[in-house]
Amino acid sequence: MRAAIVGCGSIAHVHAAAIDEIPGITLAAAADIIPERAEEFHRQYGCTAYSSLEEMLAQEKFDVLHICTPHYLHVPMLHYGLEHDVHVFSEKPPVISKEQLLELQGLHTEKRFGFCFQNRYNPSIRVARELLASGQAGKVLGARGIVTWSRDASYYTESGWRGRLETEGGGALINQSIHTMDLLVYLLGKPLSIEAATQNHHLKGIIEVEDTMEAYIRFAGANALFYASTAYCDNVPPLIEVACENLTVRIEDQSLTYLYRDGHIENPELPSVKALGKNYWGSGHKSCIEDFYHSIAENRRFPQDLPGTLDTIRLMLGAYASARSGGEIVTIS
Ligand SMILES: NC(=O)c1ccc[n+]([C@@H]2O[C@H](COP(=O)([O-])OP(=O)(O)OC[C@H]3O[C@@H](n4cnc5c(N)ncnc54)[C@H](O)[C@@H]3O)[C@@H](O)[C@H]2O)c1
Repeated sequence: MRAAIVGCGSIAHVHAAAIDEIPGITLAAAADIIPERAEEFHRQYGCTAYSSLEEMLAQEKFDVLHICTPHYLHVPMLHYGLEHDVHVFSEKPPVISKEQLLELQGLHTEKRFGFCFQNRYNPSIRVARELLASGQAGKVLGARGIVTWSRDASYYTESGWRGRLETEGGGALINQSIHTMDLLVYLLGKPLSIEAATQNHHLKGIIEVEDTMEAYIRFAGANALFYASTAYCDNVPPLIEVACENLTVRIEDQSLTYLYRDGHIENPELPSVKALGKNYWGSGHKSCIEDFYHSIAENRRFPQDLPGTLDTIRLMLGAYASARSGGEIVTIS
């Protein structure tokens, strides 16, 4: 199959590297409104460079469009790609507003589209999810998800779309910690409601979006605490902990620990997978992209399609709605 990428910034290199490693896929083209970025892709990966998505779709034959552009462009570009008869694999977040979600829900297409929630493919998450599903850990009592990363003013000034509500849609949640929120949903099941609050602690007057989000999420069987901030001094692995009757499952990126009630501790052996990008982006990009292509070839559902990510999308939009209104938002679909 032939792939094309729109948006040749930081994450696009991870997509190109994954495509390069997956047998049977060729990167045919790349487009960016900054022509030197698309040219750089031509030099590095041998693909044809374009200066817009429109031009690339008009001139190039390919099967899958990878969307690696700023948040506000994901839905319009996904829509445009489907209208031009290609499958679409989009970076997160799937949407930045309720209106965009309604637009996605109204799409009727024979083509496939899905989203990059690559951390669901981390071996630590897969093994933890199997353990929870097996019942061996006992009933889930509660959970917490904590992300403490560092994003200073230069991170926002180097890419103008970041830090603005209109183009990024939010900050620490929608950009940096949506994966951790998604993993809580992936591990705990359907979220019922959320209460959340946002702060801008360290970049006042520089960004419009939050650098910190805290939330209380009610799931069917248990509740979760969520805290995400980009005002920390370092990028440390996100922590996810699920407290169960028999043990607590602790996941820190690639490491998995079982803390039993009697005090003994186990670290189950996990396959090691190399991260293609920054370590704190996780190691799942290649597996996630490969699964998207295989789902097309095998004519089966891709797990991170719209139904497969709807609970996370509604929870994320609910968190922002709650932060704005100060009340609890029911998120059940
Ligand atoms: N899954 C992950 O772990 C992960 C990690 C980092 C970024 N991301 C996501 O990837 C996306 C891009 O992030 P980034 O950090 O690479 O941003 P970036 O600013 O480095 O790159 C975005 C690129 O899109 C280009 N662009 C903007 N408007 C365009 C248009 N109309 N047509 C074509 N190109 C256009 C820009 O010129 C830029 O080169 C975001 O949605 C971000 O949330 C995901």
